[in-house]
Amino acid sequence: MDNAPGRGDRPSLSRRDFLRGSGAAAAATALATAPALDAQEDKKGGAGVTAIGPGPVKLTLDVNGEKMTNSVEPRVTLLDALRNYLDVTGCKRVCDRGTCGACTVMVDGQPVYSCTMLALEAEGKKVRTAESLIDGGKLDAVPAAFVSCDAQQCGFCTPGFVVALRAVLDKNPKATPAEVERGLAGNICRCGTYEQMRHAIAQLCKAGATGGKEG
Ligand code: FES
Ligand code: FES
Repeated sequence: MDNAPGRGDRPSLSRRDFLRGSGAAAAATALATAPALDAQEDKKGGAGVTAIGPGPVKLTLDVNGEKMTNSVEPRVTLLDALRNYLDVTGCKRVCDRGTCGACTVMVDGQPVYSCTMLALEAEGKKVRTAESLIDGGKLDAVPAAFVSCDAQQCGFCTPGFVVALRAVLDKNPKATPAEVERGLAGNICRCGTYEQMRHAIAQLCKAGATGGKEG
């Protein structure tokens, strides 16, 4: 995907930072240490050993400012919990292995691949999905720029792109187009709509659109 945003001058931090945010490497450890878990004493385990599952445990997530609860098996990813248990379907499943970015959500402001994070890891954190980018019929400036610049074809990658882009601008409202593109280096558009995305990015950077809503 050489013509993906940011691929031309991709710095070492982009993909690495993205994966760091995903918590993929910490998934197994987090299962045993996440404080909000409804841990059950493992009767067969050694002293002090706690385990959860394999059956469903209670999960409560803060999604777009709303508390959502269901029971999920500990192995369930944040992506599957959102889509299949909480009916929050903006994040898309494409690769399901941390390579495409279609499942991108924000967790405490950091863009993460929700397919590589366990749902239980997100307890006690603020999860933000593409659904948060419209409020009372008013589009956030980021998806509004995608619409006005026709920056989608099938649209399957779009929720991940707009969430990642919103995260970049929230972190650095004065980001340059090149900096924004680097922030999107973890996202792939299989339709190849990169040129239109560049127009949307240029429009956002020119307008200094950080948190504005457009009709
Ligand atoms: S579906 Fe998560 S990175 Fe592709
Ligand atoms: S618009 Fe189709 S994958 Fe990006």
